[in-house]
Amino acid sequence: MASAPPISQATLVRDKFDARASDYSTWYEGETYSAAAFRRRRELTLEVLRNVSPGKVLDIGCGPGVLIEGLLAQGHEVWGVDLAPAMIQQCCATFGGEPRAHFGVGKIEALDFADGFFDAITCLGVVEYLDDDRAALRELRRVLRPGGLAVITCPHFWAPWRRWDALYWSVVEPLRRLLGRAPYSLVRHREYREGEYRQLLAEHGLIVEDVAYYGFGLVPTPLDRRLPRLHSALARILDDQARGPLKQLGMGFNVTVRKAGL
Ligand SMILES: C[S@@+](CC[C@H](N)C(=O)[O-])C[C@H]1O[C@@H](n2cnc3c(N)ncnc32)[C@H](O)[C@@H]1O
Repeated sequence: MASAPPISQATLVRDKFDARASDYSTWYEGETYSAAAFRRRRELTLEVLRNVSPGKVLDIGCGPGVLIEGLLAQGHEVWGVDLAPAMIQQCCATFGGEPRAHFGVGKIEALDFADGFFDAITCLGVVEYLDDDRAALRELRRVLRPGGLAVITCPHFWAPWRRWDALYWSVVEPLRRLLGRAPYSLVRHREYREGEYRQLLAEHGLIVEDVAYYGFGLVPTPLDRRLPRLHSALARILDDQARGPLKQLGMGFNVTVRKAGL
């Protein structure tokens, strides 16, 4: 009997976020370290968009709309696209009555918009899940107008917490397998070195204007979950290192790019 074909990464990602749609917004709440990192990532993004004249903004991988309120408050007209239909349903339930907010299911690798339609684009927490990050950048660049800005977030490969976490799971996962346990997660998650991502952006005609790091988690896995207050307290102290000498400790970075032209 033929074995079932493997489930694609896109299907795994869609199912993961469909299942999380109703409680995803709560990941931004409370005093946990990860909530603080999510809030900081959003804050750094909105700081960039604040300097863009009100215009058409696309939020790719918008989730349940965690960035939408901030973008609307800045005077932008906003489009949100997400692979997970349940995320888009959440957006419609929250912003359904807002004439300046538009939502649809879609994927970054094939966006249903005309060339140069958007003045600015945000893409937070998405590139790490993609099979083909070049296809994503080609599409992002296509729908951005010449001279337009985009903010993209990347998990940072060299963050000490990430290297330790990878080591931890390289030991724990085989032990779990030996005990007959299912893998912790089947979803692949990419991490980037700043230099390699800059190279990728340059290849796509996207000029880097700023890089800001966030999420300075120093307490290693699994202690981070047991000592969330210590974890977030240390992270808060380092938040002002977004562009400072200790920035490489950040678990992620926001890249602001401009499309060449105009
Ligand atoms: C970690 S969440 C980030 C949500 C939100 N942007 C934020 O900042 O919290 C990733 C989102 O990207 C969406 N996503 C993943 N792959 C995608 C793709 N290829 N195209 C569009 N959205 C995608 C997921 O469905 C999910 O809602």
